[in-house]
Amino acid sequence: MAEAEEKEVEIPNRQVKFSEAFKEFMPKDWAPYPSEVSPANLPAPLPASAPAKARREKLSAAFPGERLILPAGGLKVRNNDCDYAFRPHSAFAYETGLGEDREPDSIFIMEPVEGGHEARFYFHPRVPRTDPEFYSDSTYGEMWVGQRESIDEMAALTQLDVRDISDADDVMKENLKEMGVRVVRDADPRVTEKIDGWREELGIDLAYAQKKDDELAQWLSLERMIKDEFEIAEMQSACDRTATAFEGVVRQFPEAINRGRGERWVEGVFGLYSRHLGNDVGYGSIVAGGDHANTLHWVRNDGDLRSGDLVLIDAGIEIESLYTADVTRTLPLNGKFTDAQRKVYDAVLEAQQAGMAAAKPGNKFKDVHQAAIEVIARKLEEWGLLPVSAEETLDPEKGGQWRRWMVHGTSHHLGIDVHDCALARNEDYREAELKPGMVITVEPGIYFKSTDLLVPEELRGIGVRIEDDIVITEDGCRVLSDKLPRLADEVESWMAWLWAGAKK
Ligand code: GLY
Ligand code: MN
Ligand code: MN
Repeated sequence: MAEAEEKEVEIPNRQVKFSEAFKEFMPKDWAPYPSEVSPANLPAPLPASAPAKARREKLSAAFPGERLILPAGGLKVRNNDCDYAFRPHSAFAYETGLGEDREPDSIFIMEPVEGGHEARFYFHPRVPRTDPEFYSDSTYGEMWVGQRESIDEMAALTQLDVRDISDADDVMKENLKEMGVRVVRDADPRVTEKIDGWREELGIDLAYAQKKDDELAQWLSLERMIKDEFEIAEMQSACDRTATAFEGVVRQFPEAINRGRGERWVEGVFGLYSRHLGNDVGYGSIVAGGDHANTLHWVRNDGDLRSGDLVLIDAGIEIESLYTADVTRTLPLNGKFTDAQRKVYDAVLEAQQAGMAAAKPGNKFKDVHQAAIEVIARKLEEWGLLPVSAEETLDPEKGGQWRRWMVHGTSHHLGIDVHDCALARNEDYREAELKPGMVITVEPGIYFKSTDLLVPEELRGIGVRIEDDIVITEDGCRVLSDKLPRLADEVESWMAWLWAGAKK
């Protein structure tokens, strides 16, 4: 077989070369950066920087003498040279207090020192305008992405020991064989690969090292389960802003119905509020008109909205610190529930109320689900849908038929991630007792698909979920998303009030 001919591939580079005259001209005559004029112009610390310091003390105590590496992650290509919006890894955000779009390619390292750890933050700082990066680098250059922080400015913001990212490899490699080093593996695959490569070169048992890495990730996930005061205030704010967005969305229902593809209109309006009032949506919004509500993760959102149908909207605003709300309302598009819609709605609401009543210290996480599904099973029995009794269907081994109409769980932890603390083991999550400071959702539903021949015709195509965010208190729970009505009558009068043009 003839050897393949090696061809030189021509890569098009459409960038026009910078002339020497331009390079000489460009760095001159720019106003100094304010913090260079006076340290008084350094930025104020991020609100999350103080709570993050307290979190790091716990992290340090849990892993004494070990180097802990928490990358922020890198930009992800969407196509060619366009990237997705950056969001830092949640463990990184939690331990540094950095949110929004901060900081691609950076790495947070807890470096063991005598008596604890040094909290170091390695990032790509602003370069002087004499550096061609200023005008030629579309990832970091000021002309392209705006003014970045200097080392001092980043230190003022984060209250961390801030250093240049170019020093990070040497630090991560140092004494790698002799000391415990753990990395959050899924944050930035480039960093993980690099560290695994060094481990292999040094003859370190990779499987053992990765197990240690995974323990760190699990610890960081579980650590977020009980929210401190700062976090609860942030989540309250996320819920309040989400309520404002729902109001904006409801005002737009007539427009959404008239335009066609109303689900997209509603998704867009909610997205507009999210970007305007917060950082972004906390997850892809579900806007499901009519029978689409019976597709649990309906995120295509390309359907029409019809007067007379219900619309299920599952959406939440993520705020600057990345805490998010996760709220669902199922609303009558013309402002009035039909009898059939109300029958299903009231059943789901009763299940939610039962779930909330069980959400208190001493009960387990799974008791909330149990309380909700007991109501659902009873309703299904009343409506003649179950082939067995409610009691029999609730037997997890021999029953379970009820799940045909609600195949998802009732609750999950909520925080920086919409499904927060996801790496926690079953015994720390479903089987664990509820404790003050935990924030969870309560979100039962009943879903009657239009194709479900077991369901009476008048109920087919009706899907209802009601989802609220609660914080466990000393003696029960408080509903963070309480600004939005839940009772069917209150929903109707709220919608009428919004359409009457009432202003807050
Ligand atoms: N929006 C996703 C969920 O409710 O879990
Ligand atoms: Mn949820
Ligand atoms: Mn949800």
